[in-house]
Amino acid sequence: MTDIPDDSLLQPEYDWTGYGFDTRQIHAGEYADTVAGARIPPIALTAGYRFESWDDGRERFAGESDGLIYSRQRNPSGSVAERRIASLEGGAEAIVVASGQAAITAALFALTRSGERFVSTASIYSGTRILFGRSFARMGIGVDYVWNPLDDEEWERQIGPDTKAIFTETIPNPKNDIVDIDHVAAVAARHRLPLVVDNTIATPYLVRPAEHGAAVVVHSSTKFLSGHGAAISGTIVDAGTFDWAGAPRPYPLITEPPVPGGRSLLERFGRTAYARAAREAVVNDLGPALSPFTSFLLHQGIETLSLRMERHLDNAATIAAWLEQHPNVESVDYAGLPSSVQRPLAERLYGGRTGSVFAVTVRGGEAGARRFTDRLRVFSRMTNIGDVRSMALHPATTTHASFDGELQERLGITPGLIRLSIGTESVGDLLADLDRALA
Ligand SMILES: Cc1ncc(COP(=O)(O)O)c(C=O)c1O
Repeated sequence: MTDIPDDSLLQPEYDWTGYGFDTRQIHAGEYADTVAGARIPPIALTAGYRFESWDDGRERFAGESDGLIYSRQRNPSGSVAERRIASLEGGAEAIVVASGQAAITAALFALTRSGERFVSTASIYSGTRILFGRSFARMGIGVDYVWNPLDDEEWERQIGPDTKAIFTETIPNPKNDIVDIDHVAAVAARHRLPLVVDNTIATPYLVRPAEHGAAVVVHSSTKFLSGHGAAISGTIVDAGTFDWAGAPRPYPLITEPPVPGGRSLLERFGRTAYARAAREAVVNDLGPALSPFTSFLLHQGIETLSLRMERHLDNAATIAAWLEQHPNVESVDYAGLPSSVQRPLAERLYGGRTGSVFAVTVRGGEAGARRFTDRLRVFSRMTNIGDVRSMALHPATTTHASFDGELQERLGITPGLIRLSIGTESVGDLLADLDRALA
């Protein structure tokens, strides 16, 4: 569909289409090092790229050639991670950026402008809610929240003529109140709106939102995709399936020529037009480029995603069930528990294993939560989720501290609630640590 060939220097050594998930997480996106034959793609620490000639430089800028221009836009180390994640998510193209927040911002900026709005499910990561309520509001882009994603009347009330996208998280942070992605995708399809899905906690190992109708998938790849907790990064994936030309609302970055008389990104790049818009018209303008070194850490981390996820999921299911029966625990928010009202949905979407980030409410309110948290030893007291280390956090006094009491209550962030991110340590050690802290 495109009339511009892909960058020949960055062609993957092999086409990994049709290979299994475990094979693609290791090989997809790699390219042959022609200098030394290095097996691991070398870190391309460069800000820019030499032009072969006067004409070559002009052609690259005009988009007539496939050569690289500048690492704010594209870098070979970033491309390895991008192709790997696009392959795992089943998308057409991915863009890596400097953080999950940057990914969410760029993904939605490519679809909205001042005076327009989008609709989001209400149970989302607190930083995303703050981003929407502060920086998006300052840019004139509004958000409307749907509190019950299964309530079609609520969706209908919130979606208006100036709504340009729908945003949701597959497994919300921190309440593990999983979203019926098929239901939300049906709402988006009914209104012919692009659905943007944060798949950070589920990862493509558990669910691939593009297969359920998402137009765009975003990640805080700081988390499970990297797995090491050593660096911040974010990713945007263009599913390549949304019908931009047929959409009833305008998406000018994609469908209108950038200069009078020119051709639109849709005309030039077809199914990767959204990715082109996000990369060239948003990320390149705003500048949240991912460093080549962090790109390298990200694509190295992805190599073991499925192995880590298996351990995360097994540990989380064991710990959630154990916590639920502990006398000093009031409740556990883990949709995969047999006692959860969401268990049937958890079975349908995730085979009952709903990630490894969930909430536990201990007895004794804030004082109980404080005693529990301060006694942990294997669990780290910190913000972050999704690396191999287990972590615990008290949202009411940290991530959600800027929310007023009414909003905290509505979001279910109570004084005794603690968010756990279950790591890959020996499960016996984690249980013993929790047991000591709960004693
Ligand atoms: C679900 C989710 N989305 C997005 C983010 C933001 O990502 P980052 O911290 O990489 O900017 C986070 C961070 O915790 C998150 O948990």
